[in-house]
Amino acid sequence: MAGSDSIRVFAPATVANVTCGFDVLGFAVNNPGDEIVLRKTNTDKIVIKAIHGDGGRLTLDPNFNTVSIPVIKYLEKYGIKQGLEIELFKHMPLGSGLGSSAASSVAGVFAVDKLLGLNKTVEEMLPFAMEGELIACGAAHADNVAPCLYGGFVLVRSYNPLEIVRINTPKGMYCSLVHPHVEVQTKDARNALPKEIPLGTAVTQWGNVAGLVVGLMKSDFGLIGRSMQDVVAEPARAGLIPGFYSVKESALHAGAIGAGISGSGPSIFALSDSLDKANKIAEAMAAAFKKIGIGSETYVSEVNHQGPVVMG
Ligand code: HSE
Repeated sequence: MAGSDSIRVFAPATVANVTCGFDVLGFAVNNPGDEIVLRKTNTDKIVIKAIHGDGGRLTLDPNFNTVSIPVIKYLEKYGIKQGLEIELFKHMPLGSGLGSSAASSVAGVFAVDKLLGLNKTVEEMLPFAMEGELIACGAAHADNVAPCLYGGFVLVRSYNPLEIVRINTPKGMYCSLVHPHVEVQTKDARNALPKEIPLGTAVTQWGNVAGLVVGLMKSDFGLIGRSMQDVVAEPARAGLIPGFYSVKESALHAGAIGAGISGSGPSIFALSDSLDKANKIAEAMAAAFKKIGIGSETYVSEVNHQGPVVMG
């Protein structure tokens, strides 16, 4: 892309935690996602020209926006003086548990890298994307940013030092997402978590995390489903999402391999082994929310394998 004056990039939404993997597991989906258009200008300034689809909620100040911070830090790090104009198209709800801020951060760093032709590795781009996430949530979780940038399933093996491990993404795995029209702040969802975990609970949880990873590596959908049990975060957070258990049950009844809270919620995700089932599961989850008077939107796609892509 170096030589071109502008670039359009898509970056995918992500499901953090994947039930039992609180703060350490995540995967990307093909739909929804954010798009960014980055244009070179003849100034030395980074400007956010417009943000579409956020209802005016996001700041246009480049020093405080999750899309521009990674761009600024990237230019600083590599000593590049290049004016850029950013246009961001938000195609997903904010604060939904779908990794909205992570998608914008990844779109920003990936776009500037490709536009300027530096072609850094995802490992080199990750710290810049995490800077954007830090601005958005006050904490640099990698369980949205890393799968968004790497694509597929990833494990955050360690935060200090940061070690990201790619996990096999089984072929033919689909994700259904439902975003109910209720607000859950990540801060409240984190405050709801237990400070200590009884040993027996921890044993159940780490057995499930290991089972889920092995299930993914072996494309063993049965093992994946049996392992998608969260005995730590889900019981503490379910009460923040009205109807959570009936929506989850509706997904399993419609054929889901497993289901749970997407990130810190309120969105709920379900995995399945066919597009047909994934569509039925999404409909069932939306119907379960409707039954208790809550509107929602749904998204269905194959689990993403490639992370951000250049669209033009
Ligand atoms: N792992 C995080 C959580 C994801 O569940 O709070 C949201 O940043």
